[in-house]
Amino acid sequence: MIKTKDQRMAAARPLPLNQILAGDCIAVMNALPEASMDLIFADPPYNLQLRGDLHRPDNSKVDAVDDHWDQFSSFASYDAFTRDWLAAARRLLKPNGAIWVVGSYHNIFRVGAEIQNQGFWIMNDVIWRKSNPMPNFRGKRLTNAHETLIWAAKSESSKYTFNYEALKSLNEGTQMRSDWVIPICNGGERLKDAAGDKAHPTQKPEALLHRVIIGTTNPGDVVLDPFFGTGTTGAVAKMLGRDFIGIEREGAYRTVAERRISRIRRLDADALATTRAKRSEPRIPFGQVIERGMLRPGEELYSMNNRHKAKVRADGSLIGNDVKGSIHQVGAALEGAPSCNGWTYWHYRREGRMIPIDILRQQIRAEMEGEVSRPN
Ligand SMILES: C[S@@+](CC[C@H](N)C(=O)[O-])C[C@H]1O[C@@H](n2cnc3c(N)ncnc32)[C@H](O)[C@@H]1O
Repeated sequence: MIKTKDQRMAAARPLPLNQILAGDCIAVMNALPEASMDLIFADPPYNLQLRGDLHRPDNSKVDAVDDHWDQFSSFASYDAFTRDWLAAARRLLKPNGAIWVVGSYHNIFRVGAEIQNQGFWIMNDVIWRKSNPMPNFRGKRLTNAHETLIWAAKSESSKYTFNYEALKSLNEGTQMRSDWVIPICNGGERLKDAAGDKAHPTQKPEALLHRVIIGTTNPGDVVLDPFFGTGTTGAVAKMLGRDFIGIEREGAYRTVAERRISRIRRLDADALATTRAKRSEPRIPFGQVIERGMLRPGEELYSMNNRHKAKVRADGSLIGNDVKGSIHQVGAALEGAPSCNGWTYWHYRREGRMIPIDILRQQIRAEMEGEVSRPN
């Protein structure tokens, strides 16, 4: 096959893997070799078009996204920007590569149209339903409780990566759907600056990236994020054994992202392996416990009688004594029993105490049952 000039240069020039590149993402992407990325995850400016300050009922000001990087003079200038960065991104994708773009009603329809104009092939749009959205303080509109992700292959003929079984396993044996209930990033995961304020206004939850990366890449793939912010994509990619390249214009965000990623440990092969190819209360797949960081891949679980142990894997399955499968399957196999309730059988250790993993499921249920947390 005859190679283009860019492809010949790509072969000659090493990629800046696991680095955060400074500068405008369009210029930086145009300087990277063609057809070199397996996946692009993009969380571009939303172009929120805020009109004045927003206050809560107690008159405190809402910490809205009013940063200069989110401001465009008109829809036309936002569209021109979208056109340019998407074209730069598409050039970088391998023929079988794919892109994810996340956005809100302010921008996602404009971005979606341009994705189709440029020849990408949309596979799904995913609704990220926030289990703890910010209320609508004025009571003049619906609570804005979701964002939309578009997943598209480079072209209609792309043989894109889709780890169906791993996603099914993450969802405890049930086919993964296109509506994802995940909380916004808060608590210990939310990065703070020296003054204790949010380091970035739109830090995405790691759970969202966990699902994207497990589902649409393989270990060793290269994931590019041209709007890197605090480096959520890089942090999850590194943990899951993928390589990343981040691009971010703001020095302060790069510093935060570098510190964050330097503290992440890459998982070992056992924990990275994913599955190839279960009420009246809301069903919580064990995978959600992993996605939310309540337990980490690689962590060990212990049977209630302490006779058996198993290791948690990134897709929410377990491996113990060479037996792989769901929390229920591995428990049943190790006990030689026809069935087992993994939620009550398996325990994790904290400060010398054995705690049933069912506690974590109950925490998630409590959160889903109507808790509307404070705006982040
Ligand atoms: C919506 S935020 C991404 C947040 C990120 N997903 C996270 O979890 O932290 C968009 C980021 O893109 C950066 N940005 C905006 N325009 C850019 C450009 N033209 N080139 C590079 N970075 C840009 C902003 O500084 C901001 O940090």
